[in-house]
Amino acid sequence: MANPTLTTLQSHRSIRKFTSEPLSEAEVTTLIDAAQHAATSTFSQQYSIISVTDPAKLAALAEITGHHWLEKAGHYFVMVADQYRNQCLSLNDDTTQANLHSLDKLLAGIFDASIATEAIVTAGESLGLGSTIMGSILNDVPRLINLLDLPKLTLPVLGIAIGHPAEQPEQKPRLPQQLMHFTNGYHTLSSTDRALQAYDQLVADYYHQRETHQRDETFTHHIATELSRDPQQRAGILIGIHQQGWLH
Ligand SMILES: Cc1cc2nc3c(=O)[nH]c(=O)nc-3n(C[C@H](O)[C@H](O)[C@H](O)COP(=O)(O)O)c2cc1C
Repeated sequence: MANPTLTTLQSHRSIRKFTSEPLSEAEVTTLIDAAQHAATSTFSQQYSIISVTDPAKLAALAEITGHHWLEKAGHYFVMVADQYRNQCLSLNDDTTQANLHSLDKLLAGIFDASIATEAIVTAGESLGLGSTIMGSILNDVPRLINLLDLPKLTLPVLGIAIGHPAEQPEQKPRLPQQLMHFTNGYHTLSSTDRALQAYDQLVADYYHQRETHQRDETFTHHIATELSRDPQQRAGILIGIHQQGWLH
């Protein structure tokens, strides 16, 4: 099956090199509008978007994420889980406050911000823009809260560096569907699974053949490496969650 929406979705790759052309105001407005049309939990629209244009703040974001190339993107968004706005609209009784501070509402804000993130990425790609989603803004949540003046009951979730692509990287091969799509219940995995072994080979071939940063890496090895990082590196996430008044 094929149509322009599927082609856009199936052509995705993260873009980390951009031309010097900034996004126009019309492009930014269009992307925000696309994000706003995404579904939100209980129609509560519990997220906000911050466009970061101040070079000093972009430099701080580059330090936090370790991604200095973000300063050359055509635009930068920080997606924020947000119950602050709805708190302003709501009653000050115990039930309301318990709801606003609950894990459920924290997750709802994170869902809304994440779904809007993907809408921006896909809308951008449909316009010929490229982007990279950045979880690495969470490397220093307390600093980011301060940098962006985030009020209580908000939390930064993801960054998006977006712009006109100056690269066209190869697409990363995805898991075979049989390893991630199950019918009527979960299928547990064996490390000798043939489909997994074939996928490991596919990923190894991808890393050998791609134009930049070639290396020896299977998917299994990649996951082991990712999970060997110091979990304390992002201890600031929980500190930030509590600092912002969530889960009280
Ligand atoms: C939640 C999330 C967080 C991510 N964080 C980062 C990041 O901090 N830095 C980065 O370079 N890429 C980041 N990425 C992009 C992934 O590395 C990328 O999507 C993945 O390697 C697959 O490559 P592709 O998007 O080109 O298909 C993130 C993606 C997601 C969905």
